[in-house]
Amino acid sequence: MSEKIYVFDTTLRDGEQVPGCQLNLDEKLMIAQELDKLGVDIIEAGFPISSPGDFKSVEGIARVVQNATVCGLTRSVKKDIEVAAEALKPARKPRIHTGIGASDIHILHKFNSNRDEILQRGVDAVKYAKSFVEDVEFYAEDAGRADLEFLARLTEAVIKAGATVVNLPDTTGYLLPHQMYDRVDYLMNNVPNVDKAILSMHCHNDLGMATANTIAGIRAGARQVEVTINGIGERAGNTSLEEVVMTLKVHKDLGLHTDINTEMLYPLSQLVSKTMRMPVQANKAIVGRNAFAHSSGIHQDGFLKHSQNYEIMTPQEVGINKSDIVLTARSGRHALKHRLSLLGFNVGKDKIDETYDQFLELADKIKEVNDKDLVVLMKQLTEAE
Ligand code: KIV
Ligand code: ZN
Repeated sequence: MSEKIYVFDTTLRDGEQVPGCQLNLDEKLMIAQELDKLGVDIIEAGFPISSPGDFKSVEGIARVVQNATVCGLTRSVKKDIEVAAEALKPARKPRIHTGIGASDIHILHKFNSNRDEILQRGVDAVKYAKSFVEDVEFYAEDAGRADLEFLARLTEAVIKAGATVVNLPDTTGYLLPHQMYDRVDYLMNNVPNVDKAILSMHCHNDLGMATANTIAGIRAGARQVEVTINGIGERAGNTSLEEVVMTLKVHKDLGLHTDINTEMLYPLSQLVSKTMRMPVQANKAIVGRNAFAHSSGIHQDGFLKHSQNYEIMTPQEVGINKSDIVLTARSGRHALKHRLSLLGFNVGKDKIDETYDQFLELADKIKEVNDKDLVVLMKQLTEAE
C-alpha cells in the first residue's frame, strides 16, 4: 500500500521572498487558485504580520481557496500569532505555522538566548496558536544544524503542546542526503510521541541538495514536503515541487505518492515564471525547455527507436505536448530523415548522404536548424538537381 505524502506549497511565502519576484494581490489570488486545482494539500499564503499587503493577501487567499488548507507564518511572538489568526479567519481549513531558531548558532546569535528558554518560547507559541486554530505547525528553524538531542527534546515538547506538524527546515541548505536521513530516522526513533504529529521536510538548495534531502527525509519517515513551483526561494531556492512529485511518481517502488495532478505542472511552472518575472533555466528538471529535448545523434536515434531509451517519464504526464528533437550539427541521419518525413519530404537511400552533408554545412553555420530552414534547404537541393 502506497502512503500519502502531503504537499505544502510555499511559493507564495518563501518563494515570494526572492528579490524582484513580488506579486500583487490579483496575481497571488490567481496562483493560489491554480495551486488549489493542482492538488496541493497546504498553501502557505504569506507572513501576515510582515506588512498590511501580506495580511490582505493571506486573507484573500483564505477566502478563495476551496480545498487546500491555508497557512500563515509567524514567529514565536504573540502579536504575530494574533495577526495570523485574524488573516486566516475566512479559511475553510486554517493552519498557523509558528516557530523559532533551533540551532545553537541561531539561539546564540539571533536570540541571544539558551536552549531551555527557546524550548519554552516554542511551547508557549504552539499553545497560544492552538487557542485560535486546531491545526498548528511548528518550525524548528535551522534544524539541519541543530544539536540532535535538543531537536528531539524540542520536537517532543511542541507535540505535547499540540503541534500537528513539526517542520525540520534545513534553512541554510547545509545537509547531505544521508545526514538528513539519519536526523529524521533519529527523531522517528527517539521522540516518544512522534506518532502524534507529522514531520515535515523544508529544504533549501544552497548545495543543490534540496530535492535529494527532501526525498531522504521522507524515506526516513517524514510525511510532508515543503516545496515551491520551479524551486524558487531565498538564495539558491527551495525544494522544487515538480521534482519531488515526479520522483515519487517515477519511483513507485518507494511506496509513497502525492495527490498532485501532474499534467498541470508545466502550465503552472510557466505561469509562476511569467508572473514572478523569473525565467526557468533551460536544463531545469521536469519543466525546463530542454527537459524533453534530444539533441545528440546517438540519443536521437535511440529515442526514435523507443522513447523509453532516453525518457523516464512522458512529457504529456507533466503537461508538455511532446518531446523535441533539436536538429544541430550533432544530429544524425535518422533524426534528419524523421524530421524531413514529418515535413513531407521522403528522402530515399540514394539521396540521404548528400542531403545530410548539406544539412551539416548549414548546421555548422546556424547552430539550430528549424523546419523553415529545412524547407529552404530541400528546395535548393531539388533546384540543383
Ligand atoms: O527556511 C526556513 O527555515 C523557513 C522557516 C521560516 C520555515 O523558511
Ligand atoms: Zn525556508
